[in-house]
Amino acid sequence: MIQSHIAQLLNDQVNAEFYASNVYLQLSAWSECQGLEGAAKFFREHSMEERIHMDKIFDYMAECSVPITIEQIPKAPATFGNLMEAIQAAYDHELKVTAMIKNIAKQSFEAEDYTTFNFIEWFIAEQHEEEVLFDKIIDKAKVLGFKGEPGQSLYIMDNYLANVQH
Ligand code: FEO
Repeated sequence: MIQSHIAQLLNDQVNAEFYASNVYLQLSAWSECQGLEGAAKFFREHSMEERIHMDKIFDYMAECSVPITIEQIPKAPATFGNLMEAIQAAYDHELKVTAMIKNIAKQSFEAEDYTTFNFIEWFIAEQHEEEVLFDKIIDKAKVLGFKGEPGQSLYIMDNYLANVQH
């Protein structure tokens, strides 16, 4: 039996992952319009990963017979000054998601809900991977001296994003 405050946190997370999927989908759409096909591919694939995250929590709640409410999803940011701003926005978003996941871990542990605690551990590892991924991308930009300006380094970053493992 999942306690109501844990059920609420899980429901919030379903909606947050849905929103995250839209954030990345919108980033992909923005990249397409900038002629950044590599970034568009990267963000599009990441959007689908977020959808999988949503499904995982959805399935866990369904298994535990916890009611699920899909809320109205806010509009994702649609315009960015340049590719570095877009990458930074994605990274900042991941940090917010990490904080939400850690809170579920903390609350479920304190509530002695070890089933949810065990379930959410996968997401803790996943958030770590995502933060490492964005650190790697930002490091690559630093190596290139890329700050978002058009030119050869933008072309290289776009190609890098097309092929980066995530
Ligand atoms: Fe599902 Fe990138 O957090």
